[in-house]
Amino acid sequence: MDLTIAGAPGKIILFGEHAVVYGRPAIAVPVQDVRATAEVKNNPDAGTSTVFLEAPDIGFSGWLHAAPVDHPLAKITIHTLQALGLTSFPAIKLKVTSTIPVAAGLGSGTAVSVAVVRALSTHLATLLPPEQQSSLAFEVEKLHHGTPSGIDNTVVAFERPVYYLRDRKIKPFSIRSPFNLLIGDTGIASNTSVAVGNVRKGWNADPSHYEQLFDAIGQISEQARQAIQRGPIGKLGPLMDRNQDILHDLGVSCRELDDLVSAAISAGALGAKLSGAGLGGNMIALVEPETQDAIEVALREAGAVRVLRTEVQT
Ligand code: PMV
Repeated sequence: MDLTIAGAPGKIILFGEHAVVYGRPAIAVPVQDVRATAEVKNNPDAGTSTVFLEAPDIGFSGWLHAAPVDHPLAKITIHTLQALGLTSFPAIKLKVTSTIPVAAGLGSGTAVSVAVVRALSTHLATLLPPEQQSSLAFEVEKLHHGTPSGIDNTVVAFERPVYYLRDRKIKPFSIRSPFNLLIGDTGIASNTSVAVGNVRKGWNADPSHYEQLFDAIGQISEQARQAIQRGPIGKLGPLMDRNQDILHDLGVSCRELDDLVSAAISAGALGAKLSGAGLGGNMIALVEPETQDAIEVALREAGAVRVLRTEVQT
């Protein structure tokens, strides 16, 4: 096989971000409308056995042996080759591209990692199972912040909705009826390590208050799980609003996110909240087919630089 192409989806967190780092449950779903793609080609011209990396979207290219070891693309490549038991680098070219907005809470880095594991393992041996795709991607998550919960790599590698509790095996999670979300981008880069670090500082300063906030978020995630599994989906709206209020109290919202959340609600969304680490990035709004056009217009007028539509389904 000369060429192997593999992909992985983006993701959004519906409920529970930040609290999930502290052992509370969270819910995340894959977003198939945006994807990362990895392409592996044999590279007989290389002369010597080594890997050439190319990531045109971020203007990066170079030999694996010369790349910084903490470069995410180098790290996932090396971890995958080790997992496949290779003792020397194969002569290949690995190219990654992505349609997932970067630093936006949509899992772009994770999707690149999972796409790379899938493409390399398929090309050089056989496709590694989702558990291993997830644990390899988790190693790279640690570069972004020291205490990743593991939710991003899990939802992207398993490509299905997850009700996630740190260090627990994922449980099957079915969706009673599909529902629609708009994903509105503030256009401001969300820095996960800064947001997670701020929450950590707050928790260190006042652990009992933060534990209460995390408990409240955990209860919301649990109620949301029941609403998603049993219906009615409309129950999710007020739960999103309450989750957003607590994220605001945690200090991870920002004016631009608040503006998009208010605009969505005023235009008829059933609920809205930030999604992911916050301090920028994306928000999500629960919409009905008949109101989504008006809500999309309202989001753009309130400053959204991009609005994606997605249907959440099992
Ligand atoms: O990196 P993001 O924006 O997808 O957010 C990750 C979610 C957090 O709960 C904030 C961190 C984590 O490790 O779960």
